[in-house]
Amino acid sequence: MLVQSLAALLLPALLSTAFPVDVAGDGDVHAEINTLGYLKCTATTSSGKSKVIGYVSRALNSYGEYIGVSPSNNKDDVAARMLVSIDLSLAENGTAQSLLVKNAPKNNYPFLGGIGGQEGSSIGSDGDYLLVGGTRETATGAKPSYCGNTFTDARNILRKCSSAIWLFNTTSGLVTPQWVNDDGTAVVANIGYTQGAFVFTGDKKTFEDTWNQDVDWITLSLDN
Ligand SMILES: *[C@@H]1O[C@H](CO)[C@@H](O)[C@H](O)[C@H]1NC(C)=O
Ligand SMILES: *[C@@H]1O[C@H](CO)[C@@H](O)[C@H](O)[C@H]1NC(C)=O
Repeated sequence: MLVQSLAALLLPALLSTAFPVDVAGDGDVHAEINTLGYLKCTATTSSGKSKVIGYVSRALNSYGEYIGVSPSNNKDDVAARMLVSIDLSLAENGTAQSLLVKNAPKNNYPFLGGIGGQEGSSIGSDGDYLLVGGTRETATGAKPSYCGNTFTDARNILRKCSSAIWLFNTTSGLVTPQWVNDDGTAVVANIGYTQGAFVFTGDKKTFEDTWNQDVDWITLSLDN
């Protein structure tokens, strides 16, 4: 615990450099080193260009889903952004991890997680989707469970969830959701931004066709 709190004090200064972080300067990235950052949303336009459309916000909508914030229409967007903590040692060895939201509005559900949608808690080749909100912590590789989440809290509707779903590439800075379905299979999820909130789905085209939604398909990257 002491090591972690010292790290928390020292890290903002140490981690102003790019990844990977070699704190001791000896070529090793040491265990239990966390980095903090915002989650930047980059969309690919129909012409194939990449465009930063904003950040994941620290605010929830009335469904308990995290919303987005765009610098182009909110001058105070930095204060509105979600700040997450990523464990670099887990990232280095390719382990899916839970992202702690440092400025979460609901401290009972402090992790950024996936929450079952209307059709359930598995995604694949159909149009099924998951919501993105605050959850309690789950174990890496675990199937979705009634772990407690902000959607259930807001709507009083039971939904399964998982938090340990995030892969972080220390070279590219990309933060990618890897969802474990109810049958235990892992799926790299597409992230859609639609109606101001985020969804995870297995197939972009089928999602759009099924729900007739206008969607920005985005990637998340750590901005620190
Ligand atoms: C990754 O690192 C974590 C923490 O050091 C450890 O618990 C886990 O077993 C490692 N996983 C792999 C696949 O090396
Ligand atoms: C991480 O990103 C780099 C640079 O884009 C890429 O070359 C590499 O394959 C990625 N690693 C993984 C495990 O996806």
